[in-house]
Amino acid sequence: MKSLFSFVTVALLTASCCQAPETAIYLDESQPLEKRVEDALSRMTLEEKVKILHAQSKFSSAGVPRLGIPELWTTDGPHGIRPEVLWDKWDQAGWTNDSITAFPALTCLAATWSEEMSALYGKSIGEEARFREKDILLGPGVNIYRTPLCGRNFEYMGEDPYLAGKMCVPYIKEVQKNGVAVCVKHYALNNQEANRHHYDAVVDDRALYEIYLPAFKAAVQEGKAWSIMGAYNLFEGTHLCHNDRTLNKILKEEWGFDGAVISDWGGVHNTEEAITNGLDLEFGTGTNGLDSKYGQSYDAYNLALPYQERLKDGRASMETLDDKVRRVLRLNFRTAMNSNKPYGSICSPEHYEAARKIAGEGIVLLKNEDNILPIDLEKTSKILVVGENAIKKMTVGGGSSSLKAQYECTPITGIREAVGDKAEVVYQRGYVGDLLRTYNNVDTGIDLTDPRTEEQLIADAVAEASDADIILFFGGLNKSRGQDAEGCDRESMALPYAQDKVIEALTAVNDNVVVLIVSGNAVEMPWIDKVDGVVETWFLGTQTGHAIADVLFGKVNPSGKLPFTFPVKLEDNGAHALNAYHKDSLSVEYKESIFVGYRWAEKHDIKPLFAFGHGLSYTTFEYGEAKCRKSGKGFKVSVDVTNTGAREGKEIVQLYISDNESSLERPVKELKGFRKIALAPGETKKVTFEIEPDMLKFYDPAQSGWVLEKGTFTAHVGAASDDIRTSAEFCVK
Ligand code: BGC
Repeated sequence: MKSLFSFVTVALLTASCCQAPETAIYLDESQPLEKRVEDALSRMTLEEKVKILHAQSKFSSAGVPRLGIPELWTTDGPHGIRPEVLWDKWDQAGWTNDSITAFPALTCLAATWSEEMSALYGKSIGEEARFREKDILLGPGVNIYRTPLCGRNFEYMGEDPYLAGKMCVPYIKEVQKNGVAVCVKHYALNNQEANRHHYDAVVDDRALYEIYLPAFKAAVQEGKAWSIMGAYNLFEGTHLCHNDRTLNKILKEEWGFDGAVISDWGGVHNTEEAITNGLDLEFGTGTNGLDSKYGQSYDAYNLALPYQERLKDGRASMETLDDKVRRVLRLNFRTAMNSNKPYGSICSPEHYEAARKIAGEGIVLLKNEDNILPIDLEKTSKILVVGENAIKKMTVGGGSSSLKAQYECTPITGIREAVGDKAEVVYQRGYVGDLLRTYNNVDTGIDLTDPRTEEQLIADAVAEASDADIILFFGGLNKSRGQDAEGCDRESMALPYAQDKVIEALTAVNDNVVVLIVSGNAVEMPWIDKVDGVVETWFLGTQTGHAIADVLFGKVNPSGKLPFTFPVKLEDNGAHALNAYHKDSLSVEYKESIFVGYRWAEKHDIKPLFAFGHGLSYTTFEYGEAKCRKSGKGFKVSVDVTNTGAREGKEIVQLYISDNESSLERPVKELKGFRKIALAPGETKKVTFEIEPDMLKFYDPAQSGWVLEKGTFTAHVGAASDDIRTSAEFCVK
């Protein structure tokens, strides 16, 4: 009997030990996301809910330790993973294992006009973010290029809403495949850096919907971005980090965004608005620190104890709280709590290769008189390289996008490596610009001091110029304050540091001058007729020198095209022509409305220095006749494109549409499609664009909606906005 009893006891005990403990629904990754979110929400106390809605350090927010819900770690973005910073400081923490691959700036990515390159970029930077154990990458930036003075244009994707929208989507999708969320920024209307915390963007609804919102909409609806960052400035009198119209009405209600709205760092100014107007997660708010009534500065955030107090005394609703918590939980489950994400990697050969490839496809050959490029090393004995930007490292500086690159090849290094002993490469400084070498304690290690006067620098460069076979002048802007940098705008569109003088002096003694502009912005070129070549190189990151040398010596046939207009002068830009750009004003009226970039130039028949979509190749392309036919509810336009030169090359075939008659004024034409194709010499490919009825609509403010009017439209197919090769009409009945 005793033995039977012990057998039963042992059997029962064994059975109970073997029963797996039940996994809570929120921890069970096989359960639907929304079920997990509801389950986690139901287990959280009020204090725990509030705790996950604001920062706990410069770049992280708390989880729920009791429930095993981890912290969220954010990082800049958008061109590489920022070095680790001190808990509550912008300065780098001094780790020795956090240097990364610096990818080309987003203007360069936009200039590739290649969704394939965008996907490669997203995959690579996503893997780096993942390896560095980040959950949220603060980028990409898709604010529209309104003025060439905006210090942050280099972080964005140009002036056209269609191009920026198409180009951000693959980046987003690929980053997020790594279990890392993007945080698309800066939503929206953040089109200048000057006065960025204070100016109210006064924009009509048509421009809002047609120009400034589409890229964000594409990021949310097509890219399925998991988070978005509010902008610093105001719209309709309210800061964009807590703006009921843009966040609640448009983003969440109209577009169905289910992710989290994150404030820009220090972008929250009002507790009530932060609670009710659509913000979910607050970062970077300046507080009065340890002497605040809350004891710990992060507790003083608007969405911290001030929020908790309002919830407890009934001034704030639990429903709004739960909506925010759901959004942050969703973000957490998609990232930090996703146990199926890949491991990622940094500075892999694949990432270096990707950075070089993207750079090579984004560099834009603007002018190439008498085929001065590519340089034939068989026929060259002396190359004179002039300019500070040939020796300067540009990944350090510029604001939050500043990086600690494990390696950065400067232009002069890339050129010397490519030339080897085939020719003599002589360097002359030409001008002294800005000596910046450290940013947030990251040091380029390059001492740029030079005691020479302007006259002496020019004289020294000229002394080497007359017997050079070719002169490569590397100038443009840099990442110092007042150039291509966050927090302030440029003073003018001219090249800084007397660079124009240096170029003039060089062209006076040598006919073979090529100017390479390192920038994220358009610059004036008063010497344009005196130089044979102009190249826009952008900021290219780790592979700068290699990618530039690839193009200069013909290893890569350039195929980038401009994602924004280069006006001859500032007044040729709509915002400036109408005196509608203000550095200090609290209100900036976007008087040019929808006529931004080429839309302005074409409306007023202003010939730009270089048009939107312009970019040359070392080969030539011929376009056949555009043929348009009805297809389903829309139309199809096809055109044959042939490589008529002697080299393999890539062409970006662009489709623009004109509405021939409409009740509201429309731009002369607008970009509605593009395709990048590779063609061998003599090869022809047919490019077909689909035109959906939605693409023909305009936003009618009187009806608060998109309108398609019947009538004839013209499809223009060409190599640039000012180089249309063939057109065909079609009729909407
Ligand atoms: C910038 C953001 C950036 C954030 C964190 C802000 O000043 O505007 O773009 O992501 O800082 O560094």
